[in-house]
Amino acid sequence: MLMTDLIAKKRDGGELSTEEIAFMIEGYTKGEIADYQMSAMCMAILFRGMNDRETLDLTMAMMHSGETIDLSAIAGIKADKHSTGGVGDKTSLILCPMVAACGVKIAKMSGRGLGHTGGTLDKLESFPGFNISIGQRRFIDNVNAIGLSIIGQTADIVPADKKLYALRDVTGTVPSIPLIVSSIMSKKLASGADVIVLDVKCGSGAFMKTEAQARELAEGLTRIGRLAGRRCAAVITDMDQPLGCAVGNAIEVREAISVLKGETKGDLLELCLTLGSCILTEGGLAETTEQARALLQEAVDSGEALKKLAELVAAQDGSAADVYDPVRLPSAPVQLEALSEQSGYVRHIEAEKVGLVSMHLGGGRATKESDIDLAVGLFLHKKVGDRVEKGESLATIHASTPEKAEEAARLLRACYELSDTPVERPAFIKALVH
Ligand code: URA
Repeated sequence: MLMTDLIAKKRDGGELSTEEIAFMIEGYTKGEIADYQMSAMCMAILFRGMNDRETLDLTMAMMHSGETIDLSAIAGIKADKHSTGGVGDKTSLILCPMVAACGVKIAKMSGRGLGHTGGTLDKLESFPGFNISIGQRRFIDNVNAIGLSIIGQTADIVPADKKLYALRDVTGTVPSIPLIVSSIMSKKLASGADVIVLDVKCGSGAFMKTEAQARELAEGLTRIGRLAGRRCAAVITDMDQPLGCAVGNAIEVREAISVLKGETKGDLLELCLTLGSCILTEGGLAETTEQARALLQEAVDSGEALKKLAELVAAQDGSAADVYDPVRLPSAPVQLEALSEQSGYVRHIEAEKVGLVSMHLGGGRATKESDIDLAVGLFLHKKVGDRVEKGESLATIHASTPEKAEEAARLLRACYELSDTPVERPAFIKALVH
């Protein structure tokens, strides 16, 4: 088999066979197929697309390029969640304890963030001592003992995606539905869960700018997941402004704790109830969405969900006291209000730019090696639809120095677009895809 022939076949709109796809992924992972050939193939796929059979074969070939996680030693339904990424997205910190408190097992591998704010692992490391490298044995034992564990993704999971994603990133071939679906689903399938829920963001701060694109991706992800034998659902959510109010690391953890305590409602709680009810119904722990939502709400109201987070932190070498008393988490020495220079109604908040403000403060990574300041970030007081008076605070900036705080306040003001006339609050949950 020659890669040149496969490239020409896809370029001309042909369908690649199972064997051809396996040959290409195996050869590329081993370094036997060159980057320039693989990038030509990615561009051909971007223009010509792939049918479901090809996308499933690509997903499975990528999954088999490395280690897969065997969760069979864990009794019960195992669930996992994926988000296509957004600013202020601390959903996993809330959702995982909530569903674990309802009896679903969460054995989750997460990543670190690059750019913007940190990833789930960085946020969890805001708990002093939290250990994300506890090894497979303790990982499985902890899930059996307390119902959840979250660790760092090992380098051995889907090595094909690491190479391929880096290549797509520099060859203009990221926005191809079959390539995105196979990239995301190969990692989710390798992680071993029975139920997978996907949060597909759409809007200016997201990968998919329109609802139609987000729907196409959500349908592709769930279809391939089901064809691979897993139970899947997706939720399409708005990313035209940051999720919740906190953007950073420890500051996002504090917001997550406040949701788990029942003190903060709004879009964040709504998202967790929606994703959580997909998990409970797909997992057979509830018959209807209403029943599932009631179970999840009860987990919050009874304090069981918060207790699960405390158990998670304690089981991974942190202190449960930090969950019950989050003032103990890292906090920045300087706090400054970013005051509005005009009055009006908030029409838009540029989510991506808000993420960059947090990064400038030191809360995100410019390169994989960058250190991250867990204490810095910002807390938005005004969201889309809110009325703002001149001189009122748009957000509190948490910074390491007064100079950085001033600069962040200036940058943050530029993220807000105000209107003279009232603005309707956008629907946050746009659609459910089963
Ligand atoms: N996230 C992934 O993991 N892969 C993609 O291709 C796009 C987003």
